[in-house]
Amino acid sequence: MAQKKRIGILTSGGDCAGLNAVLRSVVHAGTLAGYEIIGIEDGTAGLLETPHRYQILTPQMMDTTIMRLGGTILGTTNRGNPFNFPMPDGSFKDRSKEITDGIKSLGLEAVIGIGGDGSLAILRKLAQQGGFNLIGIPKTIDNDLGRTELSVGFETAVWTATEALDRLQPTAASHDRVMILEVMGRDAGHIAIQSGIAGGADIILIPEVPYDMDVVAKKIISIREDQGRNFALVIVSEAVKTATGSMVQMEHADGEKRYGGIGHYFADKISKKTGFETRVTILGHVQRGCSPIPADRLIASAFGVRAVELVKQGKFDCMVAWSNRDVIEVPIEEAIESYQAVETDGLLVKTARALGICLGDA
Ligand code: F6P
Repeated sequence: MAQKKRIGILTSGGDCAGLNAVLRSVVHAGTLAGYEIIGIEDGTAGLLETPHRYQILTPQMMDTTIMRLGGTILGTTNRGNPFNFPMPDGSFKDRSKEITDGIKSLGLEAVIGIGGDGSLAILRKLAQQGGFNLIGIPKTIDNDLGRTELSVGFETAVWTATEALDRLQPTAASHDRVMILEVMGRDAGHIAIQSGIAGGADIILIPEVPYDMDVVAKKIISIREDQGRNFALVIVSEAVKTATGSMVQMEHADGEKRYGGIGHYFADKISKKTGFETRVTILGHVQRGCSPIPADRLIASAFGVRAVELVKQGKFDCMVAWSNRDVIEVPIEEAIESYQAVETDGLLVKTARALGICLGDA
C-alpha cells in the first residue's frame, strides 16, 4: 500500500492557550483530507536529536479533551535559534541543516508551523534553505504579528487579565488601595489596553504611549479629591517607557535581561507621590498557561482547517490570518515584517480617553 502523504506540524516560541486546539483541528481536517499528521516535538528541537522526536497524531488522540488543554502536547521552545544554536561549551553553531535534513527524512509534503514573528521568521529561513513547503499559523498572546487581526492565545490572555482586574477591584475598594496589575505583551500594549478598558482600569499604560509619572500621580490624586473615591486600578504593560525611553528590565541569574518588574517600580513611585497604599500583581505566565476561552478555540479551529486547505491547494510560504470575520492567507514575509502595535490614534485608545481613562501622557 502506498504511504499516505504527510503533513508535519510543530509549535514554536512561547506557549499560549489554544495551541492544542490548533493541533486537534489540523489532525481532524488533515486526516479527513487523507493525510497523516506528524507532530514534531519541542519546535524544531525535536529534529536536532537522533532518533528524531516526533509523534504520529491520530484523530483518536485528538478528542475534545485536547481542545480544552492549555500548553502544547508537542512541547515548544523560545530558545535555541538553529542558525545560531548555543552549544554546551559556550560557542554557537549553525545547526539549520540538521533540521532541514530531518524534515526531508520524514517525507513531509508541508510543514505547518504555529508561531509568532520570531518563530515564523526562523521557519521561513529554514524552508527557503531546505526547500520544504511551509504554512504559518499565528499565535502569540502579544497579538503583535502583522496582517492578522488576531493570533491564537491573545483573546485568552485578555480574558485572564480582565478577570484579574475584576478580582482586584473589590479588594482595592475594601482596603482603599491602588492596585497595580502588570501584564505581558512585550513591545505591544494590546493586552493592557483591551483588558484595561474591559476591566475598568483608571489608568492604562502601554509601550506605544510614553508615560509621565507625574501625570499618573495627578490622575490618582484627582480620583480621590475630585471623585471622592479611595481606590484605583492601574494596568501596566511590561515594556512601558517614558518619553526619554527609560524602561525597567530585570537581569536574571542566567545573565539575560527580561521584562517583568515595572509594576513594583510604579507602586513605589505612586505611593510616594500620592500617599496611597499600593499593591502589585504581576500576572506573568498565568496569561499563557490556561484553558483557551471559546474565541481562541474557534480561531484555532478555523486556522487549522484553512491551513490544511492550503496544503491541498499547494499554496505555500503563506500564513493564515484572521480578517474581517474570515480566514485569509497572507505571505509570511508580510506578516513578520509588518509589526502590529496598538494604534495611538485608533479606536481603543480613543475609547479609553473618551471614558476618562488616563494613558499616562495627559
Ligand atoms: O511573547 C510572548 C511572551 O509571553 C511575552 O509577552 C513575554 O514578554 C515573553 O513571552 C516571556 O517569555 P518567557 O517565556 O521566555 O518568559
